[in-house]
Amino acid sequence: MTDREAHAIIMRIKRELGDRLVILGHHYQKDTVIEFADFVGDSLELARAASQVEKAEYIVFCGVFFMAETAAILAPGKSVFIPDSKAGCPLADMAPVDRVEKAWDIITGVDPSVVPVTYVNSSAALKAFCGARGGAVCTSANAGKVVAWALAKGKKVLFMPDMNLGRNTARAMGIDDGVVVLWDHEKHDGGLEGKDLARARIVLWKGWCPVHCPEFTVKDIERVRRIHPGIRVMVHPETDPATVKAAGEAGSTSQMLSSIEALPDGGRLAVGTEANMVLRAARKHAGRLEIIPLKEVYCDDMARITLPKLAVTLMKVGKGEGRVELPEGLAGDARKALEAMLRI
Ligand code: 13P
Ligand code: SF4
Repeated sequence: MTDREAHAIIMRIKRELGDRLVILGHHYQKDTVIEFADFVGDSLELARAASQVEKAEYIVFCGVFFMAETAAILAPGKSVFIPDSKAGCPLADMAPVDRVEKAWDIITGVDPSVVPVTYVNSSAALKAFCGARGGAVCTSANAGKVVAWALAKGKKVLFMPDMNLGRNTARAMGIDDGVVVLWDHEKHDGGLEGKDLARARIVLWKGWCPVHCPEFTVKDIERVRRIHPGIRVMVHPETDPATVKAAGEAGSTSQMLSSIEALPDGGRLAVGTEANMVLRAARKHAGRLEIIPLKEVYCDDMARITLPKLAVTLMKVGKGEGRVELPEGLAGDARKALEAMLRI
């Protein structure tokens, strides 16, 4: 199927289904897909949107699998679809729950007062693990608030699976690096001794996003500042802490877009995140602002969503084929962790 044919099919089915269908699109989707989204947002905004869908029977999620799964958890009465269920997230895959359970036993053996927090980029099983233990989910837009809530509840936080988001959040909160330790799940006992765990306030899980880390580096920032002297630089908090420090500013996708909107005419900003979003913002503000990608990096998983796949998915929604199914018995606890986040 060509993009042109897919376009016509999508237009027709959207017309036929009307209010019965909602298409959600993450900022990292390409323009051709975003054109059809009823709502575009970051992972927090899309989770909220999914939880608030009233009329629609069908939610089609243009993003990666954990996002569609989150929508299915938060909208239990709806049928949720994703145009390619293989659109995964390597970061989410870095925290298999059986390994987390082993780590949990060791960490809580040192101090039972631990609150688990998982970044939304994680499996439903990990969200359920957190929900069952009084923990919560966070996104890059609210990680600081959620970690503060967790530290008010317990003595320590186990933060999974993104070590960079965890470290950047701790630093932004003014938490001393000396009480932030890294649990390396490839190593015996996480590569930590009892005394390391005893002093820790935050235990970071060793996971990272290969699109943001190690892709965006201090050298990239030096280069962009050489070419564009005086330019402001902002990066996603999934980039490593040295890069965040060199940039001086970090924010979730929606926070970056708000900063761009707020720039005065003639403003210049180099943005370190997935290039679809940055280039779209650059086009939107062309002539008024100079928005440049810190580096042109794309997420291959986000790119799996194409117009022909969206068209094929829409042809199936009425038949209920290909719905996102939640792992048995986990939805309740996963919902607890997500709802805790939405309340914080
Ligand atoms: P946001 O939470 O900023 O939407 O980011 C999600 C993501 O996957 C970033 O890589
Ligand atoms: Fe996952 Fe990174 Fe892609 Fe975001 S950009 S979906 S964290 S691989």
